Order: sequence, then structure tokens, then C-alpha cells
Amino acid sequence: MRLLVIGGGAREHSLVWQLLQSPKVDKIYVAPGNAGTQAIAHNLNISASDIEALADAAEELSIDLTIVGPEIPLAMGIADLFQERGLSISGPSRAAAQMESSKDFAKRLMRKHCIPCAKGVTFSSFAEAQEYLIKQEIPVVIKANGLAAGKGVIIAQSMKEALSSLSDIMVGKKLGSAGDKILIEECLFGKEVSLIAFTDGKTIIPMVPACDYKRALDNDMGANTGGMGTYSPPGFFDRSLLDLTVETILKPTIQALAQEGISYKGVLYAGLMLTADGPKVLEFNVRFGDPETQVVLRRLNTPLVDILLAINDGTLDKVNIEWSDNACVGVVMASGGYPNKYKSDFPVSGLDKVDNDIIVFHAGTKLKKGQVVTSGGRVLTVTAMGKDIAEARTKVYKNIPHIDFQGKQYRKDIAAREVR
Ligand code: AMP
Ligand code: GLY
Repeated sequence: MRLLVIGGGAREHSLVWQLLQSPKVDKIYVAPGNAGTQAIAHNLNISASDIEALADAAEELSIDLTIVGPEIPLAMGIADLFQERGLSISGPSRAAAQMESSKDFAKRLMRKHCIPCAKGVTFSSFAEAQEYLIKQEIPVVIKANGLAAGKGVIIAQSMKEALSSLSDIMVGKKLGSAGDKILIEECLFGKEVSLIAFTDGKTIIPMVPACDYKRALDNDMGANTGGMGTYSPPGFFDRSLLDLTVETILKPTIQALAQEGISYKGVLYAGLMLTADGPKVLEFNVRFGDPETQVVLRRLNTPLVDILLAINDGTLDKVNIEWSDNACVGVVMASGGYPNKYKSDFPVSGLDKVDNDIIVFHAGTKLKKGQVVTSGGRVLTVTAMGKDIAEARTKVYKNIPHIDFQGKQYRKDIAAREVR
């Protein structure tokens, strides 16, 4: 089979790495990819959001299945376009992708179908939003309705901050049209878990759970980022909590979508808060999480391509998905200054010095005259497996110092809370 993977992050590198484990897969193209995918597949110089050019490439290269990493092409309707053109693609339709591209859509669906989530109200008028906001308790959560690359959620710790954030988004248009509508939500408290699931619209099978560290600095300080580290499994999310989440959130969500006339096929990511009243949805994503995928796929023992083909055939119930009992820890190495301004083009050294069982997934890297150089904010995700989190964590942190680039920064506390 010939596959096309869309995206260029460490998530996509890990997708390519897992897909290659099937003897069915002969060749993988990646658009646009990075230096890591170039080493194991074939990069195409096409942007992940140029969906017409991606469809042309899939046709010309006789691609048997296209796999979509990021949310933007899904929200643009890449799955619908491919289907219209008779091309096979793994990923939800544009209508289904509203679960991520419109927080209002997701909230309305959850409210209507009694799926546990934070209480929230949507506004398109600044004056009405402001009037409601001043009556809320602090902390209060303000969310832009549309896609905002991780910058659309503000947890305001004072009314002053809440009001100025609201004005920045709705009047100052800080997030562009993503902030035309906003949600004002109650703040939930508890531990956070990411649970990603495979679904063909009838059957839903969760992957192993993982945790994401969103803040730039140790002890959850600093700015929000795309994710600075991850591990799987979280010890506090046991089998009974997983089963409860499947029964009260994942299954009802797929059924709710079906009742609204939307057949959801692909991967559904539930960002959860484990509150005193049970798991509640913080957000849905319509794709694999980044960086969670980098550790989740290392634990997947079944060829991913078989699962994705079964999703498209509507036969997910026939697939036995196996996971490693081992734990996995992933630490993101980022450019100095990220998530704010940073410099690129620095040579990355030491990638060949890591232990054999370490896998380094590339994100913002490219090849320049045969040398891997930095080309983005998040540069690498360094992953290690171990019999438990403690072992995996020790391995990761033993190997990271071998890898070097100017200005490198990484968190030192990924998965530390799991180690007593
Ligand atoms: P994002 O991934 O950018 O949508 O950011 C979502 C993050 O904001 C979550 O991972 C939570 O940490 C936080 N968050 C979102 N909604 C709430 C809420 N209602 N209460 C508390 N934290 C929230
Ligand atoms: N790890 C959060 C996300 O992928 O959106």
C-alpha cells in the first residue's frame, strides 16, 4: 500500500513510524513532513492546509489511504473533498470536525445529550458577554469558539483579567474570526487526562490514556504551549475510570452525533477533567493529540494501518487492538524562547548518540546540506519505554543531554508526579 500522511510535527513522525511497521505498507509520503520523516519516508513540499493540492498529489501518486494529522485540513473539509474525488482518507468529515472547530457546536451537542462538561454560555455580542461575565465566580474560563492553535482558552484569575481578555478577543479581534463567538465557562478542578479513541461511527475503542503538559516551564509555570511533554499510562486513571468515561462520554458522544445525522469516522480525542463529580469534557479534538500520540503509538502493538482500514470499512468491531503493558514517557525539546519569539536554523547534534531503545520524533526540523537544523518552536519529542513510568522517565532524561542545539529548552518534571 501507498500512504500519504498530512502534517509535519512529531505526531506525524510517530504516525509514519507506526504505519511502517505493517508489511502491507510499501511507501509513505508526508506533506510537508520534517527531517525525521524524510529519513524514513518521502516528504512532499505541500502545505497541510492546501487541500486541493493534497488531493491532486494523492491522485497522481496513486495513494491508497491518506491519514490527516492536524485539525485545519479537517475543519476545511479535506475528508469530504477526498471522498468527492474518490480518494480514500482517514479522518472525519467537515460536519464532524465541528466538534473541534466550533466549541459552541460541541457544547450544544453535549448539553442536548447530557454528556458531562463544564457549564457554559455562548455569546456573539460583547455587551451581552460582559454583562454575564461580571456575575460569574472567579476563576472563570473564556474560550474562543473557533480554532486558535491552543491560544483560545483563558482561565482568568481575576475579574479584571477576565474582562480584558474578553475585550481583547471580541473587540480587539486578537484571535481573528475564531473569537467572533465566545464561550464563558465555569472553571473545573481536578486532574487532566487525554483519552483518544478510534471510531467507525458505531464502535468506539479507546486508546491507552495519556497526560499532556501544556505549560512551558517546570511546575506548570510559564505560558501555554502546544505541549511540552507527555506520558502513558497515568496511574490515577484506572480501569474503572476508563470504563466510566467510555460509557458516560465517548459512546454517548458518537451516538449523539449519529442522532444529529453525522457519522463520525476517525479518531476522537477527549480532553477530560477528573472532577469530584466524575470525568467531564474540557474539549474535543477530531484528531490524534500532540504530544500524546508520540507515547500512545509507542505502546500500540497492532498495526495502525489495519485499524484505520477497519474504521473506513465500518468493521472496527472485528479488530483486536493490543497495547504494550510498558509505560512510555516523552519529553519535548523546544527552541529557546518558545512559545514566544525564537530563532531557527541551529544544527542539531547527538541524534545518533542516544540509546537504541530511545525514539526521537522530529517536529520543527529540516535538512540543510545534509545536516539536521531547527526550524520550529517544538523541535523534537524524545521518547522512552520502560517497565514502569519511573524506568521510562530515567531513560529519557539520561539520553536528552546527548542531544544539543543552541538555546534548547525542555521541562525536567515530565511524569515526575507518577514517581514516588
Ligand atoms: P486547549 O487545548 O487550548 O483547548 O486548552 C484547553 C486547556 O484549558 C485544557 O487542557 C485545560 O487545562 C484548560 N481548560 C479548558 N476548559 C477548562 C475549564 N472549564 N476548567 C478548567 N480548565 C479548563
Ligand atoms: N495535546 C493537545 C492537543 O493535541 O490539542
